Amino acid sequence: MTIVHRVLPPHPVETFDDYLAERGGRGIEAARAAVPADVISELEASGLRGRGGAGFPTGRKWRTVADYCSPDNPATVVVNAAEGEPGTLKDRTLLRMNPFEIIEGALIAAVVVGADSVIIALKSSFGPEIARVEAAMDAIRAAGWADGIAMSIHTGPSEYLYGEETALLESLDGRAPFPRIAPPFRRGVDEVVETAGDVNSGSGLSAHVEMAGATHSEAAPTLVDNVETIANVPRIVWRGAEWFRTEGTRESPGTMVCTVTGAVQHAGVGEFPMGTPLREVIETIGGGVLPGRTLTAVLPGVSNPVITADQLDAPLSYEGLAAIGSGLGSAGFIVYDDTFDPVAVAAGVSRFLAVESCGQCTPCKQDGLIISDRLHSLATLDDTRVDLQQDKVEIGRRLDSVITGARCSLATQHQVVVASLMAAFPAAFDAHVAGTAAAREPELIAELVDIVDGVARFDETFRGKQPDWTHAARDSGASPVDRFTDHRVNTFKDS
Ligand SMILES: Cc1cc2nc3c(=O)[nH]c(=O)nc-3n(C[C@H](O)[C@H](O)[C@H](O)COP(=O)(O)O)c2cc1C
Ligand code: SF4
Repeated sequence: MTIVHRVLPPHPVETFDDYLAERGGRGIEAARAAVPADVISELEASGLRGRGGAGFPTGRKWRTVADYCSPDNPATVVVNAAEGEPGTLKDRTLLRMNPFEIIEGALIAAVVVGADSVIIALKSSFGPEIARVEAAMDAIRAAGWADGIAMSIHTGPSEYLYGEETALLESLDGRAPFPRIAPPFRRGVDEVVETAGDVNSGSGLSAHVEMAGATHSEAAPTLVDNVETIANVPRIVWRGAEWFRTEGTRESPGTMVCTVTGAVQHAGVGEFPMGTPLREVIETIGGGVLPGRTLTAVLPGVSNPVITADQLDAPLSYEGLAAIGSGLGSAGFIVYDDTFDPVAVAAGVSRFLAVESCGQCTPCKQDGLIISDRLHSLATLDDTRVDLQQDKVEIGRRLDSVITGARCSLATQHQVVVASLMAAFPAAFDAHVAGTAAAREPELIAELVDIVDGVARFDETFRGKQPDWTHAARDSGASPVDRFTDHRVNTFKDS
């Protein structure tokens, strides 16, 4: 039982005074007194890696942004609070429990990289978290911590891609959440760059499709960090890198806030030292599977390959989960017991990713929808289809091509998660092809809405979401990118 409380307190920090009583404010005080380059060096020495999914070294990111901004061209700090990975509730839990620490971390980032504004980007559906952040910002402003730094909240759409950081910046600029081509660092809140309107460049494409760099844009760099990443900052600045490394492993220092849902006794969120065996995380939060059942598989969201029961002793760390061929992602673990049908889960994952694809890259949307359609046929043993074996072959073929020319990681996620389920559970897929398995509807794989009294509620409305991002009775057949051809102006609304 290794629950810790570095960033996730055992009880909500209700007021600013409570936060001060728990030694809040020491980080911003230390950051203002220090030389910015020294704070960045400390962050680099701490080994903190981004908790939003990719695990990028945070200190290195801060250094790059600091190097490219100047007093005439100040940066913006954006806290990514979009949290849409299926099975993850950690960021909203942190925002509910202690928004002060996240705002303090973001202000430290602003002081250190030379930013004049901080934006916390949430979804408009995150009502309780928005209220907590607003109240905390008011208290922090009144205390003078933000003097010289403008703080605001952005409320974005419900789409999964809104959490992808370049799509998030598109949303901040008033456009649809369509990913940009990945540059070495981010530019551009409040910079509207018109893309060429011809067919080849794509009239509906994101702005900033050029690579950002020192000479390619006038926009200041933007630092985008995940909520949990930024929540770790105040204590690293105050207590130092060595203290931070007293938990965790050499390659994955610190802790991770994990979410456990699915076939467990109770769903929940808890903070663990990196390196804790995954089995312990699942048992501590979830209390194990239901009596008489056995744990069969764990899906770490829809970003990394499935984890099988024999791999549960793997340590919770970037390197530990990579060593078993999976990944830490945002540490949202959906547990399945021996009643689970891998084909129905693959069909659910595939539907989620195909629907949420924006369509800027044709194979991601079109091959993605074909994979989803064929997996639906396999799962449900659709007797209007003549050849389920042919469906399985077609799925394999489209899994190869779905990533062609992909601008963001969503297409690769589709490929690796579905392929991992097919590789880990070949007998289940063969039984569906042979028609000897029971027909199953695809599992609902969708955003986690909340966990109340140990019960997880996934977004049921996703069942009616169409690939064109409407909830109409019928899909229009258009890609989201085609529907929002005018997204470069302020017209995109949560549809
Ligand atoms: C499809 C997709 C969805 C994502 N959703 C989120 C999200 O909801 N929250 C988040 O913090 N990062 C999300 N990310 C990762 C971000 O793009 C980015 O890596 C993160 O904001 C960087 O912050 P970090 O370095 O602190 O992890 C997503 C990435 C992809 C490809
Ligand atoms: S890979 Fe898919 S989700 Fe990402 S930009 Fe291309 S079409 Fe959109």
